[in-house]
Amino acid sequence: MASLAPDLRADLNRADLHRDSANPHWVRLGGDHKLDHIPGEDGWPVLGTTLMQLSDPLGFQDRMTETYGPVYRTRSFGRRGVNLMGADANELVLFDRDKLFSNEQGWGPMLNLLFPRGLMLMDFEAHRVDRRALSIAFKPEPMRAYCSVLNTGIATAIEQWGGQMRFYDAIKALTLDTAAASFLGLPLGPEADALNKAFVDMVQASVGVVRRPLPFTKMGKGVAGRRLMVDYFGKLLRERRADPGQDMFSQFALAKREDGSLLPEDVVVDHMIFLMMAAHDTITSSATVLFWQLAKNTGWQDRLRAEARAVTGGEGLSVAYDDLSRMDLAEMAFKEALRFMPPVPNMPRRALRDFSFGGYAIPAGTPVGISPAAVHADPAHWPDPQRFDPLRFTPENVAGRHKYAWVPFGGGAHMCLGLHFAYMQVKLLVSQILTRYEVAMQPGSEPSWQAWPIPKPRDGLRVELRRIC
Ligand code: HEM
Repeated sequence: MASLAPDLRADLNRADLHRDSANPHWVRLGGDHKLDHIPGEDGWPVLGTTLMQLSDPLGFQDRMTETYGPVYRTRSFGRRGVNLMGADANELVLFDRDKLFSNEQGWGPMLNLLFPRGLMLMDFEAHRVDRRALSIAFKPEPMRAYCSVLNTGIATAIEQWGGQMRFYDAIKALTLDTAAASFLGLPLGPEADALNKAFVDMVQASVGVVRRPLPFTKMGKGVAGRRLMVDYFGKLLRERRADPGQDMFSQFALAKREDGSLLPEDVVVDHMIFLMMAAHDTITSSATVLFWQLAKNTGWQDRLRAEARAVTGGEGLSVAYDDLSRMDLAEMAFKEALRFMPPVPNMPRRALRDFSFGGYAIPAGTPVGISPAAVHADPAHWPDPQRFDPLRFTPENVAGRHKYAWVPFGGGAHMCLGLHFAYMQVKLLVSQILTRYEVAMQPGSEPSWQAWPIPKPRDGLRVELRRIC
């Protein structure tokens, strides 16, 4: 189903009507008062609980769960919603056996102006068909090609590093540059810089307070950035179809639906723009958390360095694609970093039909939120959750745990499509950085973290890199 236009969506919200994505008939949904029986808070007049949630999302979640239990009601951005905490809730919503939950209507209000029709904003059959077509870009052969481009890009960039630096800022710039090369097949230069700027404006706009594209607002800049990217990607698509390269955009350009047809041009462009958004800040955030913890846990840093040397056979050498699966310790450490601070701390959905959970009846139309961040910090699954301990991810430990207690990549039909790409990029970073440098925190520095929308250290993570080869 095509996305609903934002103004139409607003009207639908007002009228409490919506169109069922699986069943395109207009249906009337429950009103806010139908949530009266769910414990929770409406917050302040007009603002509701919005500011409390934005200023300290994790603290707010903890307080609400302690006060009201694992099913609680809030009122944010003018609308009541229900939050479902815990591994069973994650399973219900992510696995979504009964097709109860819409992604389009969950993420849409936040992302629709900027990233319309991205895979994560599609539902059910239309989503299945496009996901299947796009999956071609993540098969072993294209992944092997991205691996080679990433190895070169990372090595070139980090050769310039060293001394005192802000790790988050450096990794963000590096991830943007490598994305231009591996996703789009573009050399670095003014063109890639202009695209990067448009892209950064779009990402910032997705969390701007003003939701209309007015001049000088983040949303205004973001929508202008989108226009630039749509134009540019449209032209690039025609070039890639005529003369495909080994980049991800070429894979998307040639992707076919089950009936054998190529994806339409505007569809490829929208998927590619969304994918760049999905990949960028998530990798930047999680790699920063990992290196922060490695700077503080030098025993683990040494073990990962030894593993990287053993796998590459030397210092500062590339990791071959086939050797990535030998980096078990790096993989466990990355999983622990994703547990410690998941890049997507919350996931929104909207219920399409009435359902019940935890003894509460929840009506169709309710915005529903689940929280990876909350379940990842739950001592019932993770003893001493504030301790960084990659051994939580040995096969034996994983086998004994609820499958939905660790969900940094989501689950079910919308499970992150780029997760192997993320593992690959982070393993390359680990190997290339740790075999060249020792990483330490700058004396006296300990970052405070901005938790929302994607975690980032307020001081950029002040580390010191000491050359060892
Ligand atoms: C550490 C890095 C990453 C994390 C933690 C992450 C997390 C997630 C999560 C939680 C979702 C599901 C959201 C939902 O169900 O509401 C998702 C979806 C998605 N991610 Fe990632 N992601 C990461 C990296 C990437 C990368 C590198 C790419 C592409 C190269 C990517 C592409 C996508 C796409 C296309 C979807 C939509 C899938 C669908 O709806 O079928 N992600 N990601």
